Amino acid sequence: MPMDRQLKNILTSVLAALVLLFISVLSCHAQSLSQAAARINVQVGTAVNPFFFSNPQYAQTLAREFNMIEPENAMKWTATEPAPGKFNFTAGDEVVAFAAVHHMKVRGHNLLWGQHNPAWLDSGQFTTEQLHEMMKAHIIAVASHYRGKVFAWDVVNEALGNHGEVKPGIWYDRPGIGLAGKETEYVAQAFRWAHQADPDALLFYNDYDAEGLNAKSNGIYAMVKDFKKRGVPIDGVGLQMHVGLDNVPKDVAANIERLTALGLQVQITEMDVRLPINSSGELLDPTDLERQAKIYGEIAGICAAHPGCTAFQTWGFTDRYSWIVHFTHGKYGQPLLFNAAYEPKPAYQAVLDALSKANPKIARRRAEIAARH
Ligand code: G3I
Repeated sequence: MPMDRQLKNILTSVLAALVLLFISVLSCHAQSLSQAAARINVQVGTAVNPFFFSNPQYAQTLAREFNMIEPENAMKWTATEPAPGKFNFTAGDEVVAFAAVHHMKVRGHNLLWGQHNPAWLDSGQFTTEQLHEMMKAHIIAVASHYRGKVFAWDVVNEALGNHGEVKPGIWYDRPGIGLAGKETEYVAQAFRWAHQADPDALLFYNDYDAEGLNAKSNGIYAMVKDFKKRGVPIDGVGLQMHVGLDNVPKDVAANIERLTALGLQVQITEMDVRLPINSSGELLDPTDLERQAKIYGEIAGICAAHPGCTAFQTWGFTDRYSWIVHFTHGKYGQPLLFNAAYEPKPAYQAVLDALSKANPKIARRRAEIAARH
């Protein structure tokens, strides 16, 4: 081989090695989810229960790994208005205080939901006029209290059914706030009151089983498109992402794409991946941990790759505390990124890798979208 050809080959190899080194330095340095997320300007969060903040393992893992937290239950109606007109912000304030100390953002959850409301509300037999006033007063009181402290709210949670229809319920038609039969208008009204109380907060509609393309997500898409057209103050859609090994949604990227094309942001708000367990809480098949990791990595990767996906959040972080075991009567469990001893699982590594590998060029565009109103 002539000398200059040999030299060219050597130079090409050296160059390729340098490029690889550069890429690996960029991608492998993150030592926590929040470090990896900061590189691409995405929020990485988890639902929390302030009751556990006094547990050092719980608090240290949270502070090390996440740059956003959301109260699992502490800002819901049951916690914030336990008796008619009597507000209690104690638990929610603890979440805000923890976030402030650890420089985290707080996602608020939620201002309005047709389910899991206090008994006094569910069984109160209120009139339309009373419900109108109660809904307005609640949204304004809670969003005003957390003004400047909560950066984004799930304003309305789970208002649509599997076919994209408006679910019946006290806020819509039983008897509703005076907008029964007017489809999503009561949802729009909730957004208007939330915006009135906190004009700077990002306002989200949040739902489950609508992550990919299906009848329900079509209904959500139609609703938010209509809201944007009519100037209803909405900033984004939350995709909850409660999934299992056999029901991972397809077309998540396509759904994110069509929602963000409307000028909305998307956030993955409640991800967990349930695994089959026995009555002692052990996995039926230990290799499921790898399957779980793959699903987490895929979804985190889809979010990280799209500038309009501004947050990736899990519904809790340690398998010690998750709603899944109770909800599935002990059939499923171990759905989160850390095991019950707070050790990172393969799923943790998969999310870390997915965030670390994302192209850093996306950071600027994502920051612009995240700040947009
Ligand atoms: O704290 C009380 C306890 O004192 C009492 O003894 C016990 C008896 O049932 O209830 C305890 O409260 C429970 C609370 O979780 C705290 O564990 C409630 O009954 C129970 O209804 C509540 O469930 C929560 C559920 O939402 C309803 O609000 C789950 O923790 C929470 O993970 C779940 O989260 C929802 C999201 O908000 C919306 N998307 C789906 C997601 C999962 O269902």
